Amino acid sequence: MRVLIPQEELERRITELAAEINRDYADSDRLVCVGVLKGSVFFMVDLLKQLTVPLAIDFFQTSSYGSGTVPGEVRIRKDLDLSIRDRDVLLIEDIVDTGYTLRTILALLRFRGARSVKLCALLDKAAAREVEVQIDYRGFEIDKLFVVGYGLDFDERYRNLPYIAVWEPDEPADVPSPS
Ligand code: PRP
Repeated sequence: MRVLIPQEELERRITELAAEINRDYADSDRLVCVGVLKGSVFFMVDLLKQLTVPLAIDFFQTSSYGSGTVPGEVRIRKDLDLSIRDRDVLLIEDIVDTGYTLRTILALLRFRGARSVKLCALLDKAAAREVEVQIDYRGFEIDKLFVVGYGLDFDERYRNLPYIAVWEPDEPADVPSPS
């Protein structure tokens, strides 16, 4: 496992993002921060602790792959509890990869009548993008690598690492390809 983004660098960048978000939403009293489970949880908690504007939180859970699904098909496994009609929604994600998940969620939020919708993503794997997604607050752009840690998993492991690491199998022939 090779460290790609150390903990201190994550903390520094998240502080910068929080300052930007605090500035941009200073006049809003109707912000809802929406996390996409499970990967966004670590990032969301650390970011939101630094937000000073009034806000509510809620969560989506989606799945993109699995039996019966095709690439690009995104299923909502857990929907929001709150109504987001006329609210300013800030969607918080750990990573934008192909873009299918975020494209689906952003469209759904707009369809439900949000006053504004913006996306804050810690990691942008731009080289893997298959559909265009506008990222309003971006932590880091990364190469097309399989990364784990700070919420991101391989087969549900490694989410609790306090940094972002590149997952490199010791024996590639013995493990399924993660990509
Ligand atoms: C990851 C990530 C995004 C999505 C991005 O979630 O958290 O939600 O994939 O991929 P895309 O841009 O190719 O659509 P995942 O489905 O792995 O679930 P998890 O957050 O529970 O690990």
